[in-house]
Amino acid sequence: MANSQNQFIGLEASKLTSEAYAKTLDKEDALSKLRNEFIIPTKGDLKNKRFGPVSKNISNGTSGPVSAEDEEESIYFCGNSLGLQPKRTREYISRYLDTWASKGVFGHFTQYEDGHPPWLDMDDALKDQTSKLVGALPSEVVVMETLTANLHFLMASFYRPTKDRYKIIIEGKAFPSDHYAAMSQIAHHNLPPSALVTITPPSPTDPYLSSDHILSVISEHAATTALVLLPGIQFYSGQYFDIELITRHCHSLNIPIGWDLAHAVGNVPVKLHDWNVDFAAWCNYKYLNGGPGTIGGLFVHDRHGQVEESPSNDEESAKAENGILDKTLTYRPRLSGWWGGDKKVRFNMDNVFVPIPGASGFQVSNPSALDLTAVLASLDVFGLTDIDTLRERSLRLTAYLEARLLQYEGGEAPYKIITPSNPAERGAQLSVRLNPGLLDSILHFIESNGVVLDERKPDVLRVAPAPLYNSFWDIHRFITLFHEACKRATAKTG
Ligand SMILES: Cc1ncc(COP(=O)(O)O)c(C=O)c1O
Repeated sequence: MANSQNQFIGLEASKLTSEAYAKTLDKEDALSKLRNEFIIPTKGDLKNKRFGPVSKNISNGTSGPVSAEDEEESIYFCGNSLGLQPKRTREYISRYLDTWASKGVFGHFTQYEDGHPPWLDMDDALKDQTSKLVGALPSEVVVMETLTANLHFLMASFYRPTKDRYKIIIEGKAFPSDHYAAMSQIAHHNLPPSALVTITPPSPTDPYLSSDHILSVISEHAATTALVLLPGIQFYSGQYFDIELITRHCHSLNIPIGWDLAHAVGNVPVKLHDWNVDFAAWCNYKYLNGGPGTIGGLFVHDRHGQVEESPSNDEESAKAENGILDKTLTYRPRLSGWWGGDKKVRFNMDNVFVPIPGASGFQVSNPSALDLTAVLASLDVFGLTDIDTLRERSLRLTAYLEARLLQYEGGEAPYKIITPSNPAERGAQLSVRLNPGLLDSILHFIESNGVVLDERKPDVLRVAPAPLYNSFWDIHRFITLFHEACKRATAKTG
């Protein structure tokens, strides 16, 4: 569908599709320099069957010289699945290794002259930057555990089914892990599978879910619903939902709502505090570039994170002050572990749980300092800009990608963009549905020419220009190869 909000649509084709124009767009964009913060695998690296980059294999003599083409940077559009490695990650991780090597257990506590946090305080050190990415107060976020695990922890706290209200509403094409998590929470409460309500698109061929449709399904089940769990950005279609509107609607019906922000964090600016979101969780390995399977993050709104003291007499009050009484504390029920406990009394080992107020009180285990270090490296790259400025660049990159996809020479394009054309309803990713039977051949051609993207069988390609490191030039090179692949594939199928 044509998009009147796309500044590239309507440009003369010869200009839009030229190499020179792509290069000019990169030159004119102040954030293009952020690409230098990342290691972009070369085409040769992707083909290499030995460990590590080809350049290393050449220097240590395990590989001979490679062709000029193999030395070229690959075209990496898979940051919605696994973000690329920031150059500084290696430096930060070697600092972590040095600390471990030189301090052992004291690495947890040593206060450094240069201000680096001891491992024990790394969770606090990440709060400021994380909170800026998701529009939260620092106390409302914490980096901990992993996404699905965090959804479980949060549901344990926010899904409190009663006889009347017991359903969980999710979307019909929810990421499978979210589906399994919701189903198992329902089973955990001895409720039947029918307690899971799914919101499915009205059209069997179009994944679009309008806000009206979402709100109407929620309203329909409101009287029996205990929780709504939705993705900020849908992983398959790339649709960005109206988090504020849907949250407000749920609250008007007295239903708590949580958001899976796996595809939203670091991609689009969200305002979790102002939008009054109850809880959210995300991973730090997609647009956040923290490394495969690294530690995740979560948000709990301030109003749910409070820990209040209500001592009933002087004696109890004194015990509470000394942190030896938990009966007098009121806080949201949760699945607790020692790391959620107040640092002042955490190591008392007296079996009195005194939760840290805010999201930190939802922590369970001692987090991996290695993971926190990798996430810190990634956040420091984000710290070179801000999410609003990054979003402006992202809107331009994705608009350019869209315009180039819509400009197919030589007849009707053998594909359709299924991501909404309205920029406010999408992030960086465009999902492209190919005509039946073309996927394998197209994928084979572009992959063997150094393109990395993600396919969803039977016929969808997800193309995600990550605004921190992808360029207009990447998109130009991708489109040239993709259109060539389309032509070859359609010629083969007749
Ligand atoms: C939308 C969404 N939810 C949940 C997950 C599961 O994440 P994890 O394996 O970190 O729990 C993913 C993973 O890609 C995802 O994309």
